[in-house]
Amino acid sequence: MFIKNLTLKNFRNYSNECFNFTNGINVLTGSNAQGKTNAAEAIFFLCTGYSPRANKDKQVILYGEEEAEISGTAESLYGEISVKIKFFKNDKKSVYINGLQVLKIGELFGNVKSVFFNPSELKLVQESPEDRRRFMNISLSQMSKNYFYALSRYNKILAQRNNLLKNKDVSLIKETLPVWDKQLSTEAAKIIKGRNEFLEELAPIAEEKQRFLSDGKETLKMKTESGYTGSLEDISYCFFQDLQLGLEKDLYFGFTNLGPHRDDIKFTLNDKDVRVYSSQGQQRTVALSLKLAEAEMFKNRFGEYPIVILDDVLSELDLKRQKRLSSSLNDMQAVFTCTEFSKAKFSGKNVNRIKIENGKIKK
Ligand SMILES: Nc1ncnc2c1ncn2[C@@H]1O[C@H](COP(=O)(O)OP(=O)(O)OP(=O)(O)O)[C@@H](O)[C@H]1O
Ligand SMILES: [Mg+2]
Repeated sequence: MFIKNLTLKNFRNYSNECFNFTNGINVLTGSNAQGKTNAAEAIFFLCTGYSPRANKDKQVILYGEEEAEISGTAESLYGEISVKIKFFKNDKKSVYINGLQVLKIGELFGNVKSVFFNPSELKLVQESPEDRRRFMNISLSQMSKNYFYALSRYNKILAQRNNLLKNKDVSLIKETLPVWDKQLSTEAAKIIKGRNEFLEELAPIAEEKQRFLSDGKETLKMKTESGYTGSLEDISYCFFQDLQLGLEKDLYFGFTNLGPHRDDIKFTLNDKDVRVYSSQGQQRTVALSLKLAEAEMFKNRFGEYPIVILDDVLSELDLKRQKRLSSSLNDMQAVFTCTEFSKAKFSGKNVNRIKIENGKIKK
């Protein structure tokens, strides 16, 4: 799968610009603050309906303007697909697929698939468990709409359960809770099973990527601690039992202490905790290996690679790792951003270089 073109109107620092991409390595270059990440962000937006960095959609509208619009055409095994998103000042947006408006943002997932890496993805390795859950959620939502909808339902039910836990009337809680718990367990099981399968498939591929990028020196392992395995019914049953066992604790804290919203992944390099012992470059390589493994999983599951967006990934990697990165891209479409361009970084491969200056493509 690859994106052929991208048009940005009043998006971030672009007033009206159109990018053409090749189905190989594309590199957006330019000095700092010219709009490279903005363009990368727009591609990810078209794939998921979400920004990898803005908390509010309206932040993407060019200062002083009322509306913004991004659109693009991608080609996949199943034909051409065009996506358009309009952003409005009231923080609303509308999404069109092949010219038809879709009412649920979930419909966007999976049409044009992408994997996004930027320096803040280092959080994936360094920071809170929330970032690791986000990684799994975005990836799994692109792989399965059912996962996305199960997650949305889970979050809604969880919020209602947490509200109820704050109620003073304990007998009312004990009467009402089992109904919520049944529903919560059903959705939790779908999420847990999805994540179990995801990590089982991801781990060996990520290990192989890390080994390649580090020239055979580093072995990456990962572990989760949810502890639930088996069929949907098994997981749902055990989860429901655990919710009952944890009720007193939940009542004490006023929220649900257990569940997919508390999951985490632990990473080790050569048996040492990555967060504690690995260097910046190693941590960056781990995050990258995870993303590349994710791309391979898309290929395994859907028969084609996603668009791989690599924002500012090259800084902090030595030239050897940079070259190894390009040679591990196989026949994926990649969109890189970098400030200092040199062909050497891309191990001499053909690249489509796009120079950006102040929100404009330099001809
Ligand atoms: N809504 C907006 N309207 C106008 N300009 C914006 C808006 N949002 C961000 N910008 C500006 O876009 C500029 C370019 O940002 P971008 O993050 O794309 O830079 P970059 O080329 O990736 O730079 P770097 O090399 O430092 O990562 C910034 O100066 C930022 O202030
Ligand atoms: Mg940038």
